[in-house]
Amino acid sequence: MPLIPEEKIAETRERTNIVQVISEYVSLRKSGVNHKGLCPFHAEKSPSFNVNEAKQIYHCFGCGKSGDVIRFVMEHDGKPFLDVVRELAKRAGVDLPEPERSPAAERARQRSESDRARMLQLHQLVCDFFRAELASARGERGRAYLEKRGIGSSVREAFLLGYAPPGWDALVRFLEVKKIPAELCERAGLVRARENIPRQPEAPPSKNSHFDLFRDRVIFPLVNPQGEVIAFGGRTLDADERTPKYINSPETLLYKKGENLYGLHAAKGAIRKSGRAILVEGNFDVLMMHEKGLSETVAPMGTALTPSQVHLLHRYTPTKVYLYLDGDNAGYAAAARDVGTFLDEELLSYVALLPQGEDPDTFVAQHGREGVELLLSRARESVEYFCRYAWNRSGGSVPERVKLLEEEAAPLIRKVKNETARRRYAEQLALVLDLPLDTVGKVLRGGRAAASVSTIAKAVEPATAAAKLLPHELELVALCADHPQLLTRLRPLGVLAVVRHPELRRALLELAERTDSVKFNANGLAEALDPALRPSLIEAALSGRYLGVSDPERALSAIVRKVQGSEVLEQLKKALSEARAAGDPEEIQRLNSRINELNQQRLGLKSGN
Ligand code: UTP
Ligand code: MN
Repeated sequence: MPLIPEEKIAETRERTNIVQVISEYVSLRKSGVNHKGLCPFHAEKSPSFNVNEAKQIYHCFGCGKSGDVIRFVMEHDGKPFLDVVRELAKRAGVDLPEPERSPAAERARQRSESDRARMLQLHQLVCDFFRAELASARGERGRAYLEKRGIGSSVREAFLLGYAPPGWDALVRFLEVKKIPAELCERAGLVRARENIPRQPEAPPSKNSHFDLFRDRVIFPLVNPQGEVIAFGGRTLDADERTPKYINSPETLLYKKGENLYGLHAAKGAIRKSGRAILVEGNFDVLMMHEKGLSETVAPMGTALTPSQVHLLHRYTPTKVYLYLDGDNAGYAAAARDVGTFLDEELLSYVALLPQGEDPDTFVAQHGREGVELLLSRARESVEYFCRYAWNRSGGSVPERVKLLEEEAAPLIRKVKNETARRRYAEQLALVLDLPLDTVGKVLRGGRAAASVSTIAKAVEPATAAAKLLPHELELVALCADHPQLLTRLRPLGVLAVVRHPELRRALLELAERTDSVKFNANGLAEALDPALRPSLIEAALSGRYLGVSDPERALSAIVRKVQGSEVLEQLKKALSEARAAGDPEEIQRLNSRINELNQQRLGLKSGN
């Protein structure tokens, strides 16, 4: 039995323009009665993929794939039929009716609704129990811990924080007194039957049939945006390394892993008001950010960020999300991994990097709201972050960069539906990867560049390895020599991307990799280069001209920005003369205004410094 009536599906198809939809995936050109482009379903060099607007179908003469707009999106995105119809219907403004239920289904629905209500009541009751425990004499350990972590009373209240006492049966006994059926508590994952665990020396005492799941832990109730308590997380107070640091409720009919955000109930008002959300990794990060007035903060609670969490966040977030992750390799990798999820959701996202070794909790505790705002103001749009991150992980040769473009960056940027945004990303990508803009454009449209690697290499690499070091490269050397701790920041800040000299880049990359020591060895560096370059490099390293700088990281970013500013400008000017030659007035206007914008920024007329 179809869930969507046939005539609604037909209406959706009729009200959708196939050319418009497919244009978001494939660059199409009008050719006679058809629109033509490179087939997204197989690799080809000349376009054999046709879309016919009047007939509302597509067909590829190369691979034979064909169909209507629904089939196209299904095949391209790998989504099920009903999902695609719902999506297209929404776009086209076709109202789909709620599916009707049979009497049996209706009874089942009512049963599950009352089950849900009982489960919610239980969670509320248990939440109150943990809170009362935190306030009681037994709760001293929990209070002292929250005190130590700097969490004050208003955040404790807003987040309904609690404490689960040690011992095995505090909650079990409370629930017995309240006459809650053990079966329900077990299903909620709050207590467990004794026979379900193997006998161990530290096994619970045998006088009870059940024992508590949360013991001697600070309790973080998970509250959904409607204000209902649907699960619990608990952090141990036990320093023993064998005790798991966090445990969370198992999945129940209220709670599915990866579908909720910790703190959203307390953050949603601030998110709506400020237009932005801030995403961190851990529960204590959330609490401390709220403590310091950054109440737009939420966390995924024990999972890598999932598409449904991003979707949920989008419902409450008017403009943009900041990913504010730990300053370690896992944090940097998580940010890169999440970019595609935000693009899929069409939610603008930025990555704000924490200094190495810090997490949002420690950082905001030490630097306060202003410190965080400063980092957020330096955040990079996440696609740009991704490109830099990816670049920094690649070896950096032209073939490697082309591979990166084709295999990692282009698939990501093709997800961007907005044409103007996609072009802007193409510019950024060309810049970060140091590849010609037209190569990037071609790959984004589905073409391949691998064949012309050697031509590209000639165009972008310096003529000889002994080419002079550029002024900004010498500045970087001078700065790092005076502040060796910056070496570990070269990768995350994308500095290596502006180092043009391949050998210098390789040598710095090696130093940047060695996070164990932060020694700057000028001689070693010079030895990696051509002897002719030695004098200028050593001279820069010895100059000491950055010794007095109070914020070296800022100086580093300033060098990078200055180089990038002038390079973007060059690329844009080149694109402008091409657009003039092609007589494309819209493109000319767009490029002109981008050039003006950049010039103004460079003159310091705007605060985009
Ligand atoms: P972290 O291990 O980074 O902890 O886990 P943290 O938040 O910095 O914890 P503190 O500051 O030492 O107290 C990040 C988040 O991942 C989830 C928790 O939500 C935690 O806050 N997590 C972690 C789990 O769900 N289970 C675990 O075993 C560990
Ligand atoms: Mn932490």
